[in-house]
Amino acid sequence: MQIEKQLTAGIVAAVKALYGADVPEKMVQLSATKKEFEGHLTLVVFPFLKMSRKAPEATAQEIGQHLVENMPEVAARFNVIKGFLNMVIADECWISLLAEIQNDGHFGLKPVTEESQLVMIEYSSPNTNKPLHLGHVRNNLLGWALAKVMEANGYKVVKTNIVNDRGIHICKSMLAWLKWGNGETPESTGKKGDHLIGDYYVAFDKHYRAELKELTDKFMAEGMDEEAAKERAEQESTLMQEARAMLVKWEQNDTEVRALWKRMNDWVYAGFDETYRALGVGFDKIYYESQTYLEGKSKVVEGLEKGIFYRREDGSVWADLTKEGLDEKLLLRSDGTSVYMTQDIGTAKLRYEDYPIDRMIYVVGNEQNYHFQVLSILLDKLGFKWGKDLVHFSYGMVELPNGKMKSREGTVVDADDLIEKMITDAREMSQDKVNKLEGISEEEETDIARIVGLGALKYFILKVDARKNMLFNPEESIDFNGNTGPFIQYTYARIRSILRKALLNTPAEDKQESAQLMLPTSGLSGSLSPKEIVLIQRLAAFGDSVQQAGSDYNVSVIANYCYDLAKEFNGFYHDFQILKEPDEQKRAVRLALCEAVAKVIKTGMGLLGIEVPERM
Ligand code: ARG
Repeated sequence: MQIEKQLTAGIVAAVKALYGADVPEKMVQLSATKKEFEGHLTLVVFPFLKMSRKAPEATAQEIGQHLVENMPEVAARFNVIKGFLNMVIADECWISLLAEIQNDGHFGLKPVTEESQLVMIEYSSPNTNKPLHLGHVRNNLLGWALAKVMEANGYKVVKTNIVNDRGIHICKSMLAWLKWGNGETPESTGKKGDHLIGDYYVAFDKHYRAELKELTDKFMAEGMDEEAAKERAEQESTLMQEARAMLVKWEQNDTEVRALWKRMNDWVYAGFDETYRALGVGFDKIYYESQTYLEGKSKVVEGLEKGIFYRREDGSVWADLTKEGLDEKLLLRSDGTSVYMTQDIGTAKLRYEDYPIDRMIYVVGNEQNYHFQVLSILLDKLGFKWGKDLVHFSYGMVELPNGKMKSREGTVVDADDLIEKMITDAREMSQDKVNKLEGISEEEETDIARIVGLGALKYFILKVDARKNMLFNPEESIDFNGNTGPFIQYTYARIRSILRKALLNTPAEDKQESAQLMLPTSGLSGSLSPKEIVLIQRLAAFGDSVQQAGSDYNVSVIANYCYDLAKEFNGFYHDFQILKEPDEQKRAVRLALCEAVAKVIKTGMGLLGIEVPERM
C-alpha cells in the first residue's frame, strides 16, 4: 500500500483517539518534507487545532507521539517545527515498498480491459512521391511513443497511418520516370524504391523549372513584363499540363496510368517498410487516400444537399466558416476534383465505421494547425459526434546544425541516411572506448551499435516537449554522459552486469534458468541510507509520470523520468558498495534496488520505443 495512504489512515486514527473527532481523509495534508529538515512526509497540523484546542507545537507533538507508538512499522521518528510535523518513515516500510515494486510485473502500468476506451492514433502519414525525412522521424517516434504511453494508461490503442498515395505529386514522379527513366527499377539500380521515386520527383522539378525559365525569357523577349511572363509560363508549361492530364486519367481509372501508379507506389511502400522497420515502428491499420477520397467527395456532396456547404458560380464547393472566426474553405474544385481536406473527411468516416473510436489523435506537424482546426469544425457540421473533440497532436520542426547531413538535393535530411549515420557513429564510439567488451561476437556488437545509435536519436528527439521546434545534434545525442539515451542505456547495462555477477555468486540450487535474477524480497531488512530511500521514492513515482505523460500527451515526461532515475542510481552506485558489501541484508536490499531500477528503466525506455542493451 502507498505510504501516504497508510500514514493518512494513521493520522485519522490518531485524531480520533486523541481528540475524539472524526476527520475526513482529505483534511490530512501531507507533502514531501523540506530538504532542510529530517523526515520524509510532513503533516500540516493547523486544521486539527480546533479539535485539540492546543498550540500547534503541542498538537504536532501529540500526533507524532501517537503515530510512533501505534504504527512503528510506518512511523519511525518525528520532529516538530512550528505547526509542521515531520515524519521519518521506517526503513522496513521503504523495503516493503521496494518489494512491491519488484514483484509487480506491470509496475506503473494500467491494465487494458474490455471496458477500456479506444484511442486511435494516426501518425507518419507520408506522401508517396519521396522518401521519409527528419520531420517524419520525429513524427514516427512521437506517434509510436504516444501509442505506448496511452496503452500504459489503460487505453486500447489502434495505430493508424494515412498514406497520401494519389494526386498531382505522384503524377509528377510518374511522368518524369516515363520521360527520363529508361525503365529503371529498384532492382536494376539497387536503390530503395522510395528513393528512386524521390529522385524522379526532383527530376520533374528540375525540368519544370528549366521549362518555366525558357518560357518566361521568351515571353519577356516578346515584350511582357516579368510578372506576367512568369504567370503565362506557368499556364503554358507542357510538363505541368502533362502531369495534370495524367491525374485526370488516373481519376478516370485509365488502365495504363493505374498500372504504372500501382507499380511505382509498391516500390515506395517496400522502401517505407524498410525505414519503419529500422525505426521500430508499425501500424495496426493503414488507410490510403486512393480508397478514402471518394468517400470524402460524397460526404461533401451530402453536406451541399443539406445546405451545410454552398456552391459557387464556377461549380466549386465551399464551407463558410466565417461565423467560427475562420475563412471560407474549398472542398471540391470547379472541375469536381477533391482537395487535401476532402480526403480527410472520407478517411475519418471510414475509420469510425471500422472501429468504435472514443478518441482520435492526429500526430501531424504544427504547420497544419489550421487544417485540423477546420477539419474539426467540418466533421462536426457533418454530424460526426467525435469531430469536435478530435485531438491534433501538433509538434514542432526539427533541424540539424547547419550544413550537416543534407541529402543529395540539398534540402532535406533523409531518414535512412540519418539512421545509418547514427548507427555508424555508435559503433565508432564503442570502438573508441578503452574497455572493449570482452568476448563479444561480431553479431552482438552490431546489435549494440544499432540499439545505441537508435537510442541516441530517439531519446534526443523524445526528451524535448513535442510542441517546441528543436535542433537535433547527432554528436551531442550520442554522448555517454548527460541527458542522453546512451547514458541511460549505459546505466541499464551496468546494472545488468552487476546482477549477472550476483547471479554467479548465488548457490546453484537458487539459480534460475533465465538470466532474470529474482532476489529474495520477503523478509528483507536492514538499515537504509537517505540515498537509497530517495531511489525507492523515485521508483515509486514511475506510475505518476506515466499518468502525467498520458493525460498531457507529453512523452517527454517519461524521457526525463528515466534520466532522473538513471542519474539518481549513478549517485547511489558511486557512494555504495553493492557486490562487495559484507552485510548480507544490506547487499540483498541493494541488489533488489538495482534490479528494480533496471526494470523500471527498461519499461520506461520501452514506452519511448527505445531498447536497452544487456551490455555496452
Ligand atoms: N501526407 C500529409 C503531408 O505529408 C500529411 C497527412 C497528415 N494527416 C492527415 N490526416 N491529414 O503533408
